Amino acid sequence: MGNLQKISKIFRSLSAQLLVLTILFVMLAEILIFVPSVAFFRLNYLEKKSEFAHLASLALLASPDNMVSKELKAELLFRVGARSVVLRGANSTMLMLSEEMPTAVDASYDISKKGPLKLIEEALEALFLNEGRIIRIVSPIENEPNSSLEIVLDEQPLITAMHEYAANIFWLSLAISLLTAVLVFLTLHWLMVRPMGRMSASMIAFRRSPEDPAAAIEPSGRADEIGMAEKELEIMQTRLRFALKQKQHLAALGTAVTKISHDLRNILSTSHIVSDGLAQLDDPRVQKIVPRLVASIDRAIGLCTETLRYGKAEERQPEKEEFELAPLLKEVKASVAFPENSRINWNEDIPKNFSVTADREQLYRALLNLCRNAVEALKTSGTISLTATTNGSSHLIRVEDDGPGIPKQAMDHLFEPFAGSAKAGGTGLGLSISRELIMAHSGKLDVEKTSQNGTVFVIRLPV
Ligand SMILES: Nc1ncnc2c1ncn2[C@@H]1O[C@H](COP(=O)(O)OP(=O)(O)O)[C@@H](O)[C@H]1O
Ligand SMILES: [Mg+2]
Repeated sequence: MGNLQKISKIFRSLSAQLLVLTILFVMLAEILIFVPSVAFFRLNYLEKKSEFAHLASLALLASPDNMVSKELKAELLFRVGARSVVLRGANSTMLMLSEEMPTAVDASYDISKKGPLKLIEEALEALFLNEGRIIRIVSPIENEPNSSLEIVLDEQPLITAMHEYAANIFWLSLAISLLTAVLVFLTLHWLMVRPMGRMSASMIAFRRSPEDPAAAIEPSGRADEIGMAEKELEIMQTRLRFALKQKQHLAALGTAVTKISHDLRNILSTSHIVSDGLAQLDDPRVQKIVPRLVASIDRAIGLCTETLRYGKAEERQPEKEEFELAPLLKEVKASVAFPENSRINWNEDIPKNFSVTADREQLYRALLNLCRNAVEALKTSGTISLTATTNGSSHLIRVEDDGPGIPKQAMDHLFEPFAGSAKAGGTGLGLSISRELIMAHSGKLDVEKTSQNGTVFVIRLPV
């Protein structure tokens, strides 16, 4: 079985396929050359016979009364290789040479004015179809426009000569095609198969250990497509190795940040407890400072919590269920934390019984972040509107406010973690986490529009 697989692998290799194809193509080329040349061979043979016969007939014309001895006639016919020779002039027909018994003719060919296709057809017919025929050949006589020469002869010697010729050509073309195939094969192997093998070996080595610089290919410096592919492969491998290293460093850094955040949160929790203790004191100065202290410790704890949550790298897969949107929005509203003394209107425009299929917890978190952002943008007064519609195959949930719009510096990196915040105490994590959560639902979270008249975020969820 192992051997069989090895053999079939060799046959499927590029080299073997190229070798077989080259042999086939060269053989094809040889056949294309052979067919016309065998037709030409036959024409040549017949023309020579006609010339010979003409010469013999001229010799007869020169003799007195055109009469020669029986022996000489037989000798001439034998030399020409014909059974009879007839000379046709403008107004006379002369039987120059003939055997004692005239024979029936199987086929007659005029060898003047023949197109190449006709000649090929006749040659192939002679080669493959008929044996032992007696044929008549009609040919023009040079410088005598109205006269022609007819000879009758056995076809067999011609066929034998053609077979010999064909065999010679066959062996010759076999030799040539083998030689060419080997040469083409070696060239292709050297120029293409070998470098391809080198490249795929390098790809495999790179896949096994991408960090190992030795796994990268060393370009041969060729200027052609192969050289280019090698160069591109090298660039790709180098960049990937670099990116991988960077990612490893970032991962290590991430671990460190997670540890720091974790410990920091514990420390801050202690500070929180201490501040709560401080708040019990009656001193008016303390009463003035403590709320601000508690607020900033809260913010710091929030930052640590968010960072830790993000550091978990992946949220769990959404556990989808169908539920009504309106009650979820009530919960969101309850958790938004409107600032004290604010005059913010909360509008909901949700169709009756509007339901979505999603992870309720995760959609809650995404909506809460959008609404908190809106409240933070509005500061003390304005309107937040939540609407839900269905458009074809998506549910659209919009969170709209008439606040000042997203600042440019936030807009540039809006959905990037840690980068999109433009407010004091912001983490820049909210939108990036929200988008990740929605994308895990095969949905989308985008800014639909933002200007100094307000901002619209839209969540698209597949129906
Ligand atoms: N509705 C909004 N109106 C104006 N600015 C917004 C709005 N939503 C978000 N932003 C801007 O985008 C930034 C990024 O938001 P987010 O990713 O939630 O991080 P964070 O809220 O922690 O700053 C915010 O700091 C704010 O500047
Ligand atoms: Mg936010």
